[in-house]
Amino acid sequence: MKDFIYHAPTEVVFGKESEEQVARLVKKYGGHKVLVHYGGSSAKRSGLLDKICGLLREGGLDIVLLGGVVPNPRLSKVHEGIDLCRKEKVDFILAVGGGSVIDSAKAIAYGVPYNGEVWDFYLGKDDAKECLPTACVLTIPAAGSEMSESSVITNEDGDVKIGYSNQISRPKFAIMNPVRTFTLPPYQTAAGVTDMMMHTMERYFSHDDDMTLTDAVAEAVLRTMKDCVHDVLKDPEDYRARAQIMWGGSIAHNDLTGCGLSGDWATHQLEHELSGMFDVTHGAGLAAIWPSWARYVLRENVSRFVRFAVNVMDVPNDYTDPEETARKGIEAMERFYHSIGMPINIPELIGRDITDDEIEEMVRKCSHNYTITQGQFKVLTPADMTAIYKMAAGR
Ligand code: NZQ
Ligand code: ZN
Repeated sequence: MKDFIYHAPTEVVFGKESEEQVARLVKKYGGHKVLVHYGGSSAKRSGLLDKICGLLREGGLDIVLLGGVVPNPRLSKVHEGIDLCRKEKVDFILAVGGGSVIDSAKAIAYGVPYNGEVWDFYLGKDDAKECLPTACVLTIPAAGSEMSESSVITNEDGDVKIGYSNQISRPKFAIMNPVRTFTLPPYQTAAGVTDMMMHTMERYFSHDDDMTLTDAVAEAVLRTMKDCVHDVLKDPEDYRARAQIMWGGSIAHNDLTGCGLSGDWATHQLEHELSGMFDVTHGAGLAAIWPSWARYVLRENVSRFVRFAVNVMDVPNDYTDPEETARKGIEAMERFYHSIGMPINIPELIGRDITDDEIEEMVRKCSHNYTITQGQFKVLTPADMTAIYKMAAGR
């Protein structure tokens, strides 16, 4: 087993009516004046936003509102939030929404006490030493940002989407009420499950084969998500299944499924260029890339793919032909993606063919101008990235 540090300090308050505790929790973590940050219209439409604002006011807290965060959250909104927080002397940021709102909240939190340009953290030019405390009322299980140390922001200037990780940004608390996810459209539900499964798979596809317990946890998460997503697509108000998915999204990205493993993350890096360039839903972008990544790297560790095929995708193990078993696991994953309405290649994702120039542009960004590699399971050079994008483009 590799040495590891497991640090998951977020207080999770899970269940029906859990949002009732929001004011108590903000005060517990030192908030007085709260920026309530939210997305487009879903939290307003459902009445959740009004409810949270009312509870905060009743609890004696001052609030400032900033909505309009879009999926693949933009740097311009982060700048707006930083200016507002400074002007209003905000000391706590509460995200009401999903990964995009939470990531935007984290970026604002870094920016408020910082004298320079917040984007420099994402470019790797500086490291944040402090940030405002953040927390969230989660409305979509997917990105896992409610417990993670990451924030992913898109700079509209060049359509560059970059993640920045720093332990200080982990939310103080996460309120998770599965009932609040009943209103999710099927596509967002499916993309969310795809994302959380991929967070588990990015860690699972590792050469560190001796991590028996972590592998078993990962397989349990994957199998549970795979089953429950069909239940909620059939019945969006299936509380049992919505609850498994909501907790699964957090476990998938709070590092529990990575303890003692290296982690790969190449599919994520390749996808970020897709959502940066085409503004597609992150989870759907992952589904469009993963089968091609998997086939490209399969021979690096066939037995790992066999384990995935048998233990997660229920493929019968053909001991005479491990590679065939492994390939059947990838095909089974493609059938699963299609069964929940996800794409399995780039044309299905963006609705048209992608050009060679667009692929080259994504490779240039993903390799930071041809200076870095991506991934661990197989270390991907820019030439490998081009090959995978071309496979995913159907060429
Ligand atoms: O904007 P509104 O109107 O609220 O609609 C949202 C949005 O359109 C809607 N939605 C959310 N909750 C809803 C709802 N609709 C109906 N009922 C509800 N209860 O869902 C849409 C997607 O929301 P978004 O926050 O974008 O989804 P998600 O949580 O998937 O976040 C995606 C972002 O997270 C990043 C992704 O790259 C992407 O930018 N990631 C962040 C990570 C992290 N911080 O650790 C890791 C991930 O790998 C990922 O990269
Ligand atoms: Zn993800």
